[in-house]
Amino acid sequence: MALEPLVKQLPDEYRNAYRDKAVLITGGLGFIGSNLAHALVDLGAHVTILDALLPPYGGNRFNVGDIEDKLELVDGDIRDEILMNKLVVDQDYIFHLAGQVSYLDAKDAPFKDLDFNGRGNLVLLEAVRHQNPTARIVFSSSRLVYGKILSMPVREDHPTQPLSLYGIHKLLSEKYYRYYAHNFGIGGVSIRIPNPYGQRQQMKHSKYSIVGWFVREALEGKTIEVFGDGSQERDYIYIDDIIDAMLRLAVKGQAGEVYNVGSHERLRFVDMVDEVIAAAGQGEKKHVPWPEDYEKNETGNYVADISKIKQACGWKPRVDFKEGIREMIEFYRKNKEKYW
Ligand SMILES: NC(=O)c1ccc[n+]([C@@H]2O[C@H](COP(=O)([O-])OP(=O)(O)OC[C@H]3O[C@@H](n4cnc5c(N)ncnc54)[C@H](O)[C@@H]3O)[C@@H](O)[C@H]2O)c1
Repeated sequence: MALEPLVKQLPDEYRNAYRDKAVLITGGLGFIGSNLAHALVDLGAHVTILDALLPPYGGNRFNVGDIEDKLELVDGDIRDEILMNKLVVDQDYIFHLAGQVSYLDAKDAPFKDLDFNGRGNLVLLEAVRHQNPTARIVFSSSRLVYGKILSMPVREDHPTQPLSLYGIHKLLSEKYYRYYAHNFGIGGVSIRIPNPYGQRQQMKHSKYSIVGWFVREALEGKTIEVFGDGSQERDYIYIDDIIDAMLRLAVKGQAGEVYNVGSHERLRFVDMVDEVIAAAGQGEKKHVPWPEDYEKNETGNYVADISKIKQACGWKPRVDFKEGIREMIEFYRKNKEKYW
C-alpha cells in the first residue's frame, strides 16, 4: 500500500500557516528542497526556488517537473549578495538547503566548503537582517556536528567536536543563527539531519546519501560493499518525515535553537543493506576493510534523541525503514533514466 501523502497528515495549524504565503527554498532543485517544494505547492504557498544546478550536487529539473508551472525558478548562487538581498524581500519563510553536501569532498576543498556552508549562511542572514527581518528561516544542519558519539541517544546538548570540515562549517553556521537571533531577533532555527533517504535524491555517486547509492547498485544487480562488519547503528530518516519536521519548525521552532530529527529505529548499517537488497529483490553484499578516509570520520553509533522537537511542535517520525525503502525503490524503478 502506498504511503499517505505527507500534507494530509499535517495538523491544521501548520497547513494554514503556509496558505498564500511566500516561501523561498535555496537548493530547491535538490533532494530535500524539491520534496519540500512539492509539499508547499500542495499547501497553497507561493514558492520560489533558488538553485545554481552545480554539477556535483543533486539538483535536477525533473525533481520539480510536475510542479514547475506552479513555482518560480531562479538560476543563481546563494553567495551572490545582490541577488540574495532581492530574493529575501517579502518572503514569509525561507528554507536554506543549498550547500556543499559531501563531508569527504570538504577535506580536499576546505575553502569551498567554508564559502558554501559558512559564508553562504552569513550572506542569507545579512540579507534577511537588512531586507526582511521578520522572515522565518530553517537551516539544514547535520548530525556530523557532533563528531565521536559519547552517549546515546544523542541529545542536542551532546558535545560537538566535528570530525570533518563539513561538520565544522555546519556548526559555525548554527552559531550564526544563534547570534542573529540573540542580537537582531532573526527567527532562524537549525535542524540536525541524520541519514536521509527517499525519492528525488541524486544517484550519480556515493559521496553522500549512501542509501540512494545502494538502491542503485541493488537495482543494477551489483554487489554492495559494506565497510568492516557494518555493525554501526545509524538513524535513517525518510524524506517525508524530514519535510514534516521542517514545516513545523519554521512555524514553531524557537529562534536560534537547534533541533535533532531521527527515526524511531536503531538500524545497523549491514541491516540497512539487507533491507535494500530484500526490497529490490536483487543485488548482494560483501564485507571489505574500511578505507582510511572513511574510518577517520567514523562517529560510532548514532541515534538521535528527538524529545526536543517533539515538545516544540509535536513532530514524530511516521515512516519505518521497510515502508520508506519500498516507496523509494518504486520511485526509482519508474524514473531510473532521470537519475542514473
Ligand atoms: N543528503 C544528506 O545526506 C544530508 C544530510 C544532512 C544534511 N544535509 C543538508 O541538507 C541540504 C540539502 O541536501 P540535499 O541532500 O538535498 O542535497 P542535494 O545535492 O540534493 O541538493 C543541494 C542543492 O543545492 C544546490 N546548490 C549547491 N550549492 C549551491 C549554491 N552555492 N547556490 C545555489 N544552489 C546551490 C545544488 O545545485 C542542489 O540542487 C544541504 O545543506 C546538506 O548539507 C544533507
